[in-house]
Amino acid sequence: MIRHTKIIGTGGYLPETTYSNEHISTLVDTSDEWIFERTGIKSRHIAAAHESAASMAETAARQAIAAAEIDASQIDLIIVATGTPDNVYPSTACLLQHRLGIKTGVAFDIQAACSGAIFALSIADQYIKSGMANTVLIIGSELCSRIVDWTDRGTCILFGDGAGAMLLTASAEAGVLSTHIHSNGEFENLLYCSNPQAAAEAPENAANSGCITMRGNEVFKVAVNTLERIVDETLEANGLEKTAIDWLVPHQANIRIIAATAKKLKMPMEQVVVTLETQGNTSSASVLLAFNEAVRDGRIQRGQVVLMEAFGAGFTWGSALIKY
Ligand code: ACO
Repeated sequence: MIRHTKIIGTGGYLPETTYSNEHISTLVDTSDEWIFERTGIKSRHIAAAHESAASMAETAARQAIAAAEIDASQIDLIIVATGTPDNVYPSTACLLQHRLGIKTGVAFDIQAACSGAIFALSIADQYIKSGMANTVLIIGSELCSRIVDWTDRGTCILFGDGAGAMLLTASAEAGVLSTHIHSNGEFENLLYCSNPQAAAEAPENAANSGCITMRGNEVFKVAVNTLERIVDETLEANGLEKTAIDWLVPHQANIRIIAATAKKLKMPMEQVVVTLETQGNTSSASVLLAFNEAVRDGRIQRGQVVLMEAFGAGFTWGSALIKY
């Protein structure tokens, strides 16, 4: 039998507290109009002090496990994508494994910034197709609010917290059709977040702030061009026309970046899953949260073709084409 990778469950978690654009306007010199017009964001969720990447991941994971109607012990690989792990080590994936009561298999974190979900999906697909794993849980869990400089209006308006989950298993039926992931470390200075240790060692160096630092306008231009290229790469690899795609589930960084990708696909915005308005950019969680939302509200149906894509720090970027 040819082993395919099939999605069997999804889940998501968003913290209860939200920050509106009006609230952010009390922190920095900005306005609801500016933020909404330039980004498409109205509000974002902010984790409470007791929450962590692992705790949010657990809630999302339990939803996915319930949706898939499997026992957690069947999961033999857990991949957590996060830029805000609970510890340097053990990995958030190991903490999650323990929270789920799993003592077998393997768990590890990956770091690909906002492209984390696509990178995790790509790795899961390789493990399943090669027979190295049978049932894989992928998670994007991010506490962006903890690494945002709340005095920097160029970044604090953009980000939110949340976790998304997806369960994948080996199947005789086609599911993940292809994944494409890329990196180019050349542009580190356009978007980075130093680690807390660097800030402790040389606090006088502004680059060591431990906060997201971004040259937004330059990142924007590279993101649009890169995502247009990856759409072509994905369609070409599968010998498909644009019209074959039922849904676009993009990383939620900026509505203008999303609209440019939809335009490239000649796709009306009704076929694009957008969560940005109420969630902001949740980094590696965003694609999984958006996919989960559209599955649960019935927009994405079994048998439909879905293109997921993301772009983030690194730079990293990638896409996944799936037959749900
Ligand atoms: N409120 C009001 N004015 C602002 C704000 C704000 N929040 N932020 C910036 N401005 C001002 C600037 O100071 C500038 O003023 P000036 O013209 O007087 O100098 C003006 O608005 C325009 O600034 P730009 O940075 O050119 O604005 P732009 O239209 O590019 O929007 C944004 C900024 C929203 C950040 C956009 O560039 C963007 O979304 N970039 C891409 C982000 C992204 O995709 N990141 C990758 C994923 S994130 C990750 O991997 C962690």
